[in-house]
Parts: sequence; structure tokens; C-alpha cells
Amino acid sequence: MVNLWSGRFEKGMDKLMEEFNASIDLDKRYYDVDIDGSIAHITMLAEQSIVTKAEADLIISALENIRKQIAENKVEFSTRLEDIHMTIETLLIEEIGEVGKKLHTGRSRNDQVALDTRLFMRQELNGIKNDIKTLLEVLLTKSDEYKAVIMIGFTHLQHAQPVTVGFHLMAYFQMFKRDLERIEDCLKRMDYNPLGSGALAGTTININRQRTTELLGFTNISENAMDSVSDKDFVLEFLSDSAICIMHLSRFAEEFIIWNSQEFNYIDIDDAFCTGSSIMPQKKNPDIAELIRGKTGRIYGNLISMLTVMKGTPLAYNKDFQEDKAALFDTIDTLRISLKIFAKMLENTNFKPEEIRNHLGKGFLAATDIAENMVKLGMPFREAHEIVGKMVKFCEVNKIGLDEIKDENLNDISPVLTKNMIPDLSARACVDRRDSYGGTAVREVERQIKSGRDYLSR
Ligand code: ARG
Repeated sequence: MVNLWSGRFEKGMDKLMEEFNASIDLDKRYYDVDIDGSIAHITMLAEQSIVTKAEADLIISALENIRKQIAENKVEFSTRLEDIHMTIETLLIEEIGEVGKKLHTGRSRNDQVALDTRLFMRQELNGIKNDIKTLLEVLLTKSDEYKAVIMIGFTHLQHAQPVTVGFHLMAYFQMFKRDLERIEDCLKRMDYNPLGSGALAGTTININRQRTTELLGFTNISENAMDSVSDKDFVLEFLSDSAICIMHLSRFAEEFIIWNSQEFNYIDIDDAFCTGSSIMPQKKNPDIAELIRGKTGRIYGNLISMLTVMKGTPLAYNKDFQEDKAALFDTIDTLRISLKIFAKMLENTNFKPEEIRNHLGKGFLAATDIAENMVKLGMPFREAHEIVGKMVKFCEVNKIGLDEIKDENLNDISPVLTKNMIPDLSARACVDRRDSYGGTAVREVERQIKSGRDYLSR
């Protein structure tokens, strides 16, 4: 046999054509789900009396044997058989002869690949959900550990207001929680069985799509055959979700790089997760964080590449679609290892409360608190803002902190400014005062952690 579709051809493929056309190097990863799909299909064909029970049994045991052979690395894949679907079907026919030729009844490679992609993604997306959950667990543990350690909260990378380390980490908890929910949404939206769509228009064979839907564990049957074999929006949705998730990871990675710098010195990453320099003996570099930041480019690229693959393709199937594998697999692999390694690095990182505290004095962090205290005493906020601005200016000129302004200078700064307007300016007091829902007060952070725990154990 030259290959499975060679009937109308007079000669075999050009060698370069064969190499160019094949996707086996990538889609061999579908072997397991491809066999699951074929078993469901032939089971249904037997129940519909399209093949006999004996034929189905023979095909199923041969497919299980092929599954085992591939799992044990005993099958040599070749571009001659183009893709995983044709490879498995050819192996089947080689193994059991004529009966094997009945498997592809009422099915096309187009609905087959649409099915395989969904089955494979279902497994991997569930794996990603677990990877994100592990990261969320570590975030809860670390947030709890450092819920009372006060650090500078930044905007524009400028000192803004004091927060706690736990509060800062819980911000990431919320981002990754939404990433998890996005993956769950994606799983829900792709939970449609495309098998039985045929090449594009359905089939004349009396198949039972409801049955394969049950057998394969889908909730729904796809409604329109043409849509089922030509749409990749579930892949694109996942690639978008991944791009957002790695963007979050990349921001976190960037903070790790900053915190690990000598200038900040906020954290100590365990040696096992850093590298040294081949020339500078003193170096301890945060390579994991930098690599994640770097790999973000690939994941964005995969999204753009797949959007571009799809944009000009007429209905229904086009070979362009075969290109989805490179983008999909690379995104899955890159995202998964990034999530795993980051969680591990975070788990093995200690924050340095002493060093973090040493930075607090430098930047007028209590300014907003003075203004808000004036408001509580009856002054309109804008006016209070103006006066505190003058206080900051005075401190800058005199090179002192807000808590070092002397009583006798208050009148010079503003005639309405009095001593009682200035509250406790310690960072601790500033944090404790921010007890609004979602704020940084320790009690509030404890509530956020508790609600995070409830979420994960739902
Ligand atoms: N390897 C192909 C792909 O991934 C399978 C579908 C082939 N269909 C076809 N009409 N040539 O897209």
C-alpha cells in the first residue's frame, strides 16, 4: 500500500513533498486520544450494526495493542504515513488485514483531528488547572507567613503607601485565580463532541452521535458539521488564556528580579533555583524569573501565529489548520513548566523582613494618611491634599521625614495646619488603618487568605 488515499493517484509523493506535508513529528502526541476516539467510534458502529460485534472486538484489541506498542516506543514513525491518524489506521490494517479497513466508516480525518485536539486539550487543561492550583496554594502559605511584614507599596515604581508582603502576594492570588477560571471556561466551551461531522457535511451512514458523545465523556454534541471541522476558536481561546496567564507570571517574575537585586535585597531565593556566573564569582542570578519573562514572548507569538493561520481560511477544512499543533503544544509545554517552576521557586524563597523594613523610611509613605486624617476632622480632601503636598515639599527642602517636622514649623507650612491633624505616622499604623474591604490591614489580609482557602477547597 502506498498510502491510505492513493486510489486516484498514479504515483507516490515527491520526497520533499512528503516531508513538508507530514505532521507526525508533532501529532504523534495524539496517539492515545486518537485510539480512544477510534474505540468509541467502532463501538458505536457495532451497536448500529454497521460492523459486527466480532469485527469491532478485533479492531479494539488491535488498537489496544498498537497503543501499548507506541507507549513502549516500539513504533517507528515515518513521514510516509503523514500523521498520527493515518499511522494508526495503517498499523491496524497491517495487523488485522481487511477488517481494519472498516474503522474509518462514517468518519473523516477532519472530524478525527477535531476530536483528538479536544480530547488532548481536555487532559492538558486539567493538568494546567492543577499547576495553577499548586501555585495558588504556595501563594496562600507565603501570604500567611508574611501577612504582617510591612513593605513599600509602589505605583510608578515610586513609594506610594505601606502594604504588607502578604497583601502584595494575595494580589497575585487573585490574578491566578482568574486564570484558573478562564481555563475552566475554556474547557466548558470546548465540551462539544465533533465526531460524526465527517469531512464537512455529516454522513450518509446511520451513525449515533449521541452514543459517541456519551462514550467519550462530552456533555454536548456539536451542532453543525461544517463548523465542527473548520473552527479552531477553542484553541485560540486557550492560547489567549495562556498569554494572559504567562503575562501575570512574567510580572511576578519581574518583581522577583527587582526584589533579588542588591538595591532592593528583599528576598533570598534558594540556591537550587539560581545560577552563578562563569566569570564573576559573587553572582547569584534569578534565571528562572528571567526565563519566564523571556518565554512570555513565545506564548504571545503562538497566539498571534494561530490567529494569523486562521484569518483568511474559507470554510471548511484547510491544511493550514495542521499548523495549530506547533502553537498549541509549545504553549502547553511552556506554560506548564513555567507555572511549576515558579511555584517551586516561590516556595523556596524567603522574604527578608529586616531589609524590607529598612526601606520604609525613605519616601513619605504616610502622606495620604495625614490628608485622610484632616478629612476626618472636617477638611475637604482637595484642601488637605494641597497642605500635605506643602508638608512634603518642606521635608524635601529640609531633608527630613514627615514625622520630623517640628511643631513650630507647622504654621509656616500652612496657617491652618495644627499638631492634632497629624496622626500616628508609623508604617504599622498606616497599614492598620487600611481596613476597608480588600485593604492591606492584617485582619483584612487574613480574611482574603481565608476566602482563598475556601475557594481552593470548593
Ligand atoms: N494532519 C491533519 C491535520 O492535522 C489531519 C486532517 C487531514 N485532513 C485532510 N483533509 N487532509 O489537520
